[in-house]
Amino acid sequence: MKTPYFLINEAEINKNVNEFKAALKKYWSNSVLAYSVKTNSLPWILEYMNKSAVFAEVVSDEEYQLAIKCGFSDDRIVFNGPIKGEEYFLRAIEKRAVVNIDSEKELECLSKNEKVKLSEIGIRLNVDIGVFPEGDVDYREDGFRFGFSHEACGLKRALDRIRQINENCRIGLHLHCNSITRSLDVYRSISKYTAMIVETYGLTPSYIDVGGGFFGGVAGKPTAEEYISVIAQELSRVVDPKETRLIIEPGSAMIGSAVDLHSSVLDVKSNNRSRIITTDASRILIDPLWKKSRYFYSVNGDPDGAVEEKQIVCGYTCMDFDRIMVLKDQRALSVGDKIVYHKVGAYTMTFGGPFIRYYPAVYVKSGTEIKKVRQRMSVDSYYSIHKTEEENEH
Ligand SMILES: Cc1ncc(COP(=O)(O)O)c(C=O)c1O
Repeated sequence: MKTPYFLINEAEINKNVNEFKAALKKYWSNSVLAYSVKTNSLPWILEYMNKSAVFAEVVSDEEYQLAIKCGFSDDRIVFNGPIKGEEYFLRAIEKRAVVNIDSEKELECLSKNEKVKLSEIGIRLNVDIGVFPEGDVDYREDGFRFGFSHEACGLKRALDRIRQINENCRIGLHLHCNSITRSLDVYRSISKYTAMIVETYGLTPSYIDVGGGFFGGVAGKPTAEEYISVIAQELSRVVDPKETRLIIEPGSAMIGSAVDLHSSVLDVKSNNRSRIITTDASRILIDPLWKKSRYFYSVNGDPDGAVEEKQIVCGYTCMDFDRIMVLKDQRALSVGDKIVYHKVGAYTMTFGGPFIRYYPAVYVKSGTEIKKVRQRMSVDSYYSIHKTEEENEH
Protein backbone atom coordinates (compact mmCIF):
# COMPACT_ATOMS: atom_id res chain seq x y z
CA MET A 1 0.00 0.00 0.00
CA LYS A 2 1.40 3.35 -1.04
CA THR A 3 2.07 5.85 1.73
CA PRO A 4 0.72 8.10 3.03
CA TYR A 5 -2.47 6.32 4.04
CA PHE A 6 -4.69 6.04 7.07
CA LEU A 7 -5.46 2.63 8.51
CA ILE A 8 -8.55 2.16 10.70
CA ASN A 9 -8.56 -0.73 13.14
CA GLU A 10 -12.18 -1.92 13.24
CA ALA A 11 -11.64 -4.02 16.37
CA GLU A 12 -10.48 -0.92 18.26
CA ILE A 13 -13.57 1.13 17.28
CA ASN A 14 -15.71 -1.81 18.29
CA LYS A 15 -13.99 -1.96 21.66
CA ASN A 16 -14.45 1.78 22.24
CA VAL A 17 -18.13 1.67 21.25
CA ASN A 18 -18.76 -1.37 23.43
CA GLU A 19 -17.05 0.18 26.44
CA PHE A 20 -19.38 3.19 26.30
CA LYS A 21 -22.41 1.00 25.67
CA ALA A 22 -21.53 -1.23 28.63
CA ALA A 23 -20.93 1.76 30.93
CA LEU A 24 -24.27 3.31 29.96
CA LYS A 25 -26.07 0.02 30.43
CA LYS A 26 -24.54 -0.37 33.88
CA TYR A 27 -25.13 3.14 35.24
CA TRP A 28 -27.98 4.65 33.18
CA SER A 29 -29.74 2.17 30.92
CA ASN A 30 -32.24 4.79 29.72
CA SER A 31 -29.56 6.34 27.54
CA VAL A 32 -28.33 7.17 24.04
CA LEU A 33 -24.82 6.89 22.66
CA ALA A 34 -24.30 9.35 19.79
CA TYR A 35 -21.15 9.69 17.69
CA SER A 36 -19.86 13.21 17.09
CA VAL A 37 -19.71 13.42 13.29
CA LYS A 38 -17.40 16.45 13.26
CA THR A 39 -14.67 14.43 14.97
CA ASN A 40 -14.24 12.29 11.87
CA SER A 41 -16.95 12.35 9.22
CA LEU A 42 -15.56 9.63 6.95
CA PRO A 43 -18.70 7.98 5.51
CA TRP A 44 -17.39 4.49 6.32
CA ILE A 45 -17.20 5.47 10.01
CA LEU A 46 -20.73 6.92 9.98
CA GLU A 47 -22.08 3.78 8.33
CA TYR A 48 -20.24 1.69 10.89
CA MET A 49 -21.76 3.70 13.76
CA ASN A 50 -25.21 3.42 12.23
CA LYS A 51 -24.86 -0.38 11.99
CA SER A 52 -23.66 -0.42 15.60
CA ALA A 53 -26.91 1.23 16.76
CA VAL A 54 -25.13 4.46 17.68
CA PHE A 55 -26.86 7.81 16.94
CA ALA A 56 -25.19 10.60 14.92
CA GLU A 57 -24.49 13.98 16.54
CA VAL A 58 -24.32 16.73 13.90
CA VAL A 59 -23.73 20.48 13.96
CA SER A 60 -24.50 21.66 10.43
CA ASP A 61 -27.06 21.09 7.70
CA GLU A 62 -24.33 19.40 5.69
CA GLU A 63 -23.54 16.95 8.49
CA TYR A 64 -27.28 16.32 8.91
CA GLN A 65 -27.60 15.44 5.22
CA LEU A 66 -24.47 13.29 5.36
CA ALA A 67 -25.85 11.37 8.34
CA ILE A 68 -29.08 10.71 6.41
CA LYS A 69 -27.03 9.60 3.38
CA CYS A 70 -25.11 7.20 5.63
CA GLY A 71 -28.34 5.55 6.76
CA PHE A 72 -29.37 7.34 9.97
CA SER A 73 -33.07 8.10 10.31
CA ASP A 74 -33.94 11.59 11.59
CA ASP A 75 -35.00 10.23 14.97
CA ARG A 76 -31.47 8.83 15.46
CA ILE A 77 -29.79 12.19 14.93
CA VAL A 78 -28.81 14.72 17.62
CA PHE A 79 -28.74 18.21 16.05
CA ASN A 80 -26.57 20.74 17.89
CA GLY A 81 -24.83 24.08 17.49
CA PRO A 82 -25.72 27.68 16.65
CA ILE A 83 -25.48 27.51 12.84
CA LYS A 84 -28.43 25.27 11.90
CA GLY A 85 -30.26 26.45 8.79
CA GLU A 86 -34.01 27.05 9.19
CA GLU A 87 -35.07 24.28 6.81
CA TYR A 88 -33.09 21.54 8.57
CA PHE A 89 -33.87 22.94 12.03
CA LEU A 90 -37.61 22.68 11.36
CA ARG A 91 -37.28 19.32 9.64
CA ALA A 92 -35.34 17.93 12.61
CA ILE A 93 -38.06 19.05 15.03
CA GLU A 94 -40.84 17.69 12.86
CA LYS A 95 -39.12 14.34 12.36
CA ARG A 96 -38.24 14.00 16.02
CA ALA A 97 -34.51 14.28 15.97
CA VAL A 98 -32.97 15.32 19.30
CA VAL A 99 -32.62 19.08 18.75
CA ASN A 100 -30.60 21.26 21.09
CA ILE A 101 -30.96 24.98 20.49
CA ASP A 102 -27.93 27.21 20.80
CA SER A 103 -28.96 30.61 19.44
CA GLU A 104 -31.50 33.41 19.88
CA LYS A 105 -32.20 32.99 16.17
CA GLU A 106 -33.61 29.50 16.76
CA LEU A 107 -35.94 30.81 19.46
CA GLU A 108 -37.20 33.46 17.06
CA CYS A 109 -37.65 30.85 14.35
CA LEU A 110 -39.78 28.75 16.72
CA SER A 111 -41.92 31.73 17.77
CA LYS A 112 -42.62 32.88 14.22
CA ASN A 113 -43.42 29.43 12.78
CA GLU A 114 -46.88 28.82 14.19
CA LYS A 115 -47.15 25.47 12.45
CA VAL A 116 -44.29 23.96 14.45
CA LYS A 117 -45.56 21.40 16.93
CA LEU A 118 -43.04 21.72 19.68
CA SER A 119 -43.30 18.80 22.08
CA GLU A 120 -39.63 18.51 23.08
CA ILE A 121 -36.59 20.72 22.70
CA GLY A 122 -33.14 20.78 24.28
CA ILE A 123 -31.31 23.89 25.43
CA ARG A 124 -27.52 24.10 25.39
CA LEU A 125 -26.27 25.44 28.69
CA ASN A 126 -23.42 27.91 28.82
CA VAL A 127 -21.63 26.50 31.83
CA ASP A 128 -19.99 29.16 33.98
CA ILE A 129 -16.25 28.69 33.58
CA GLY A 130 -15.75 29.32 37.31
CA VAL A 131 -17.12 25.86 38.19
CA PHE A 132 -14.07 24.09 36.75
CA PRO A 133 -10.89 23.39 38.65
CA GLU A 134 -7.98 25.64 37.63
CA GLY A 135 -6.13 24.19 34.64
CA ASP A 136 -8.99 22.00 33.39
CA VAL A 137 -10.39 24.44 30.82
CA ASP A 138 -9.36 27.41 28.66
CA TYR A 139 -11.17 30.74 28.20
CA ARG A 140 -11.15 31.57 31.93
CA GLU A 141 -11.32 35.28 31.19
CA ASP A 142 -14.00 35.33 28.48
CA GLY A 143 -16.08 32.23 29.19
CA PHE A 144 -17.43 29.62 26.78
CA ARG A 145 -19.04 30.74 23.54
CA PHE A 146 -21.81 28.15 23.31
CA GLY A 147 -25.17 27.87 25.02
CA PHE A 148 -27.60 29.98 27.01
CA SER A 149 -26.24 31.43 30.21
CA HIS A 150 -28.05 31.07 33.51
CA GLU A 151 -25.87 33.79 35.05
CA ALA A 152 -26.56 36.27 32.21
CA CYS A 153 -30.32 35.38 32.25
CA GLY A 154 -30.31 33.93 28.72
CA LEU A 155 -31.43 30.54 29.98
CA LYS A 156 -34.46 31.96 31.78
CA ARG A 157 -35.44 33.93 28.68
CA ALA A 158 -35.11 30.79 26.53
CA LEU A 159 -37.23 28.71 28.92
CA ASP A 160 -39.92 31.45 29.11
CA ARG A 161 -40.00 31.72 25.35
CA ILE A 162 -40.40 27.96 24.86
CA ARG A 163 -43.18 27.82 27.42
CA GLN A 164 -44.97 30.66 25.62
CA ILE A 165 -44.96 28.46 22.50
CA ASN A 166 -46.07 25.34 24.36
CA GLU A 167 -46.29 25.34 28.12
CA ASN A 168 -46.13 21.53 28.18
CA CYS A 169 -43.06 21.27 25.98
CA ARG A 170 -40.58 18.76 27.41
CA ILE A 171 -37.18 20.28 28.02
CA GLY A 172 -33.82 18.64 27.51
CA LEU A 173 -30.51 20.07 28.73
CA HIS A 174 -27.38 19.96 26.63
CA LEU A 175 -23.80 20.49 27.68
CA HIS A 176 -20.40 19.87 26.20
CA CYS A 177 -17.01 20.89 27.43
CA ASN A 178 -13.85 20.98 25.35
CA SER A 179 -11.52 20.67 28.30
CA ILE A 180 -7.74 20.64 28.38
CA THR A 181 -7.51 17.64 30.69
CA ARG A 182 -10.60 15.53 29.82
CA SER A 183 -10.47 14.68 33.54
CA LEU A 184 -13.18 13.07 35.64
CA ASP A 185 -13.38 16.36 37.55
CA VAL A 186 -14.59 18.10 34.39
CA TYR A 187 -17.59 15.75 34.26
CA ARG A 188 -18.17 16.04 37.98
CA SER A 189 -18.25 19.83 37.55
CA ILE A 190 -20.63 19.89 34.59
CA SER A 191 -22.92 17.34 36.24
CA LYS A 192 -23.03 19.35 39.48
CA TYR A 193 -23.73 22.50 37.48
CA THR A 194 -26.56 20.74 35.63
CA ALA A 195 -27.97 19.54 38.96
CA MET A 196 -27.96 23.14 40.19
CA ILE A 197 -29.85 24.24 37.04
CA VAL A 198 -32.41 21.43 37.43
CA GLU A 199 -33.07 22.46 41.03
CA THR A 200 -33.05 26.21 40.44
CA TYR A 201 -35.62 26.01 37.63
CA GLY A 202 -37.59 23.08 39.08
CA LEU A 203 -37.08 21.08 35.87
CA THR A 204 -37.79 17.44 35.11
CA PRO A 205 -35.68 17.23 31.95
CA SER A 206 -36.70 14.64 29.40
CA TYR A 207 -32.98 14.19 28.77
CA ILE A 208 -29.59 15.44 29.83
CA ASP A 209 -27.00 15.40 27.08
CA VAL A 210 -23.54 15.82 28.60
CA GLY A 211 -21.76 16.08 25.22
CA GLY A 212 -18.40 14.51 24.40
CA GLY A 213 -14.80 15.34 25.21
CA PHE A 214 -13.87 12.01 26.83
CA PHE A 215 -10.72 9.95 26.53
CA GLY A 216 -11.07 6.50 24.98
CA GLY A 217 -8.56 3.76 24.30
CA VAL A 218 -5.64 5.56 25.95
CA ALA A 219 -3.81 3.65 28.70
CA GLY A 220 -3.65 5.44 32.03
CA LYS A 221 -6.53 7.82 31.22
CA PRO A 222 -10.10 7.68 32.57
CA THR A 223 -12.30 4.94 31.14
CA ALA A 224 -15.88 5.05 29.84
CA GLU A 225 -17.00 3.30 33.00
CA GLU A 226 -15.34 5.91 35.24
CA TYR A 227 -16.80 8.83 33.30
CA ILE A 228 -20.35 7.50 33.27
CA SER A 229 -20.19 6.48 36.90
CA VAL A 230 -19.20 10.05 37.95
CA ILE A 231 -21.92 11.60 35.78
CA ALA A 232 -24.56 9.16 37.03
CA GLN A 233 -23.60 9.71 40.66
CA GLU A 234 -24.10 13.50 40.41
CA LEU A 235 -27.15 13.59 38.14
CA SER A 236 -29.11 10.85 39.89
CA ARG A 237 -29.24 13.11 42.95
CA VAL A 238 -31.67 15.42 41.11
CA VAL A 239 -33.34 13.37 38.36
CA ASP A 240 -34.84 9.90 38.11
CA PRO A 241 -32.86 7.87 35.52
CA LYS A 242 -36.08 6.18 34.45
CA GLU A 243 -37.65 9.52 33.56
CA THR A 244 -34.63 11.41 32.24
CA ARG A 245 -32.59 9.95 29.40
CA LEU A 246 -28.83 10.37 29.50
CA ILE A 247 -27.23 11.22 26.16
CA ILE A 248 -23.51 11.32 25.48
CA GLU A 249 -21.76 12.42 22.29
CA PRO A 250 -18.19 11.13 22.25
CA GLY A 251 -16.10 11.58 19.12
CA SER A 252 -12.41 11.34 20.00
CA ALA A 253 -13.03 8.57 22.51
CA MET A 254 -14.61 6.40 19.80
CA ILE A 255 -12.34 7.03 16.83
CA GLY A 256 -9.11 8.63 18.09
CA SER A 257 -7.34 5.48 19.19
CA ALA A 258 -8.50 3.40 16.21
CA VAL A 259 -6.58 5.17 13.43
CA ASP A 260 -2.93 5.12 12.33
CA LEU A 261 -1.24 7.22 9.64
CA HIS A 262 1.42 5.32 7.70
CA SER A 263 4.16 7.44 6.16
CA SER A 264 7.61 7.10 4.56
CA VAL A 265 10.84 9.05 4.76
CA LEU A 266 11.35 10.79 1.40
CA ASP A 267 14.63 12.57 2.02
CA VAL A 268 17.34 13.07 4.62
CA LYS A 269 19.76 15.98 4.79
CA SER A 270 21.52 18.08 7.41
CA ASN A 271 21.95 21.74 8.13
CA ASN A 272 24.60 22.92 10.55
CA ARG A 273 22.27 22.35 13.52
CA SER A 274 20.17 19.29 12.87
CA ARG A 275 19.23 16.44 10.60
CA ILE A 276 16.15 17.18 8.47
CA ILE A 277 13.86 14.26 7.68
CA THR A 278 11.30 15.03 4.96
CA THR A 279 8.38 12.62 4.94
CA ASP A 280 5.15 12.11 3.03
CA ALA A 281 3.08 12.74 6.19
CA SER A 282 2.19 16.29 7.23
CA ARG A 283 0.88 18.08 10.27
CA ILE A 284 -2.10 18.89 8.07
CA LEU A 285 -3.02 15.19 8.17
CA ILE A 286 -2.58 14.52 11.88
CA ASP A 287 -2.54 17.85 13.68
CA PRO A 288 -4.82 20.29 11.91
CA LEU A 289 -4.87 22.61 14.93
CA TRP A 290 -1.05 22.79 14.71
CA LYS A 291 -0.69 22.31 18.43
CA LYS A 292 0.76 18.85 19.01
CA SER A 293 4.41 18.16 19.61
CA ARG A 294 4.24 14.54 20.79
CA TYR A 295 2.76 11.48 19.15
CA PHE A 296 2.34 7.81 19.75
CA TYR A 297 4.50 6.55 16.89
CA SER A 298 6.61 3.64 15.73
CA VAL A 299 9.45 3.44 13.22
CA ASN A 300 10.63 0.41 11.29
CA GLY A 301 14.26 -0.25 10.32
CA ASP A 302 17.45 -1.46 11.92
CA PRO A 303 17.13 -1.15 15.72
CA ASP A 304 20.92 -1.31 16.04
CA GLY A 305 21.63 1.54 13.59
CA ALA A 306 23.67 4.64 14.53
CA VAL A 307 22.05 7.09 16.92
CA GLU A 308 21.49 10.74 15.90
CA GLU A 309 21.41 13.55 18.43
CA LYS A 310 18.60 15.53 16.81
CA GLN A 311 16.33 14.75 13.88
CA ILE A 312 13.48 17.02 12.81
CA VAL A 313 10.71 15.01 11.20
CA CYS A 314 8.99 17.27 8.68
CA GLY A 315 5.91 17.08 6.49
CA TYR A 316 5.42 17.30 2.76
CA THR A 317 4.12 20.87 2.61
CA CYS A 318 6.48 23.67 1.72
CA MET A 319 5.83 25.44 4.99
CA ASP A 320 8.83 25.52 7.28
CA PHE A 321 6.37 25.22 10.14
CA ASP A 322 5.33 21.74 8.96
CA ARG A 323 7.59 20.05 11.52
CA ILE A 324 5.85 17.03 12.97
CA MET A 325 8.19 16.11 15.81
CA VAL A 326 11.78 16.30 17.01
CA LEU A 327 13.54 13.01 17.72
CA LYS A 328 16.38 13.24 20.22
CA ASP A 329 19.02 10.51 20.51
CA GLN A 330 17.11 8.13 18.26
CA ARG A 331 18.29 5.78 15.56
CA ALA A 332 19.13 7.66 12.35
CA LEU A 333 16.27 7.57 9.87
CA SER A 334 16.98 6.78 6.22
CA VAL A 335 15.08 7.23 2.96
CA GLY A 336 12.34 4.61 2.68
CA ASP A 337 11.96 4.08 6.46
CA LYS A 338 8.37 3.94 7.60
CA ILE A 339 6.94 6.06 10.40
CA VAL A 340 3.50 5.14 11.72
CA TYR A 341 1.59 7.65 13.86
CA HIS A 342 -0.88 5.94 16.17
CA LYS A 343 -4.16 7.14 17.68
CA VAL A 344 -4.64 9.91 15.11
CA GLY A 345 -8.32 9.42 14.24
CA ALA A 346 -9.81 12.52 15.89
CA TYR A 347 -10.03 15.83 14.01
CA THR A 348 -7.86 14.43 11.19
CA MET A 349 -8.52 12.54 7.96
CA THR A 350 -11.53 14.71 7.04
CA PHE A 351 -10.28 17.84 8.76
CA GLY A 352 -6.99 18.71 7.04
CA GLY A 353 -7.58 20.10 3.56
CA PRO A 354 -6.19 19.15 0.19
CA PHE A 355 -3.25 21.54 0.39
CA ILE A 356 -0.31 20.83 -1.93
CA ARG A 357 -1.13 17.10 -1.93
CA TYR A 358 -4.66 15.76 -1.86
CA TYR A 359 -6.48 13.54 0.64
CA PRO A 360 -4.68 10.21 1.15
CA ALA A 361 -6.37 6.83 0.87
CA VAL A 362 -8.01 5.20 3.89
CA TYR A 363 -8.02 1.46 4.60
CA VAL A 364 -9.84 -0.55 7.23
CA LYS A 365 -8.38 -3.59 8.94
CA SER A 366 -11.11 -6.06 9.92
CA GLY A 367 -9.59 -9.21 11.39
CA THR A 368 -6.91 -10.22 8.92
CA GLU A 369 -8.55 -8.50 5.98
CA ILE A 370 -7.62 -5.00 4.81
CA LYS A 371 -9.97 -3.11 2.50
CA LYS A 372 -9.84 0.31 0.94
CA VAL A 373 -12.69 2.63 2.00
CA ARG A 374 -11.50 5.94 0.57
CA GLN A 375 -9.49 6.37 -2.56
CA ARG A 376 -6.63 8.83 -2.73
CA MET A 377 -8.09 12.09 -4.02
CA SER A 378 -7.14 12.53 -7.64
CA VAL A 379 -6.15 15.74 -9.37
CA ASP A 380 -9.33 15.40 -11.44
CA SER A 381 -11.50 15.29 -8.30
CA TYR A 382 -9.65 18.27 -6.86
CA TYR A 383 -10.11 20.12 -10.13
CA SER A 384 -13.82 19.37 -10.36
CA ILE A 385 -14.71 20.54 -6.85
CA HIS A 386 -13.18 23.88 -7.68
CA LYS A 387 -15.31 24.37 -10.77
CA THR A 388 -18.97 25.34 -11.16
CA GLU A 389 -21.68 22.76 -11.93
CA GLU A 390 -21.91 24.13 -15.49
CA GLU A 391 -18.18 23.84 -16.05
CA ASN A 392 -18.20 20.29 -14.75
CA GLU A 393 -20.98 19.33 -17.15
CA HIS A 394 -18.75 20.10 -20.15
C1 LIG B 1 -21.35 19.55 21.06
C2 LIG B 1 -20.21 18.61 20.91
N1 LIG B 1 -20.42 17.31 21.17
C3 LIG B 1 -19.42 16.40 21.04
C4 LIG B 1 -18.15 16.79 20.63
C5 LIG B 1 -17.09 15.73 20.50
O1 LIG B 1 -15.98 15.99 21.26
P1 LIG B 1 -14.81 14.90 21.35
O2 LIG B 1 -14.40 14.58 19.94
O3 LIG B 1 -13.73 15.59 22.10
O4 LIG B 1 -15.39 13.73 22.06
C6 LIG B 1 -17.90 18.15 20.36
C7 LIG B 1 -16.56 18.62 19.93
O5 LIG B 1 -16.24 19.77 19.85
C8 LIG B 1 -18.96 19.08 20.50
O6 LIG B 1 -18.78 20.39 20.24
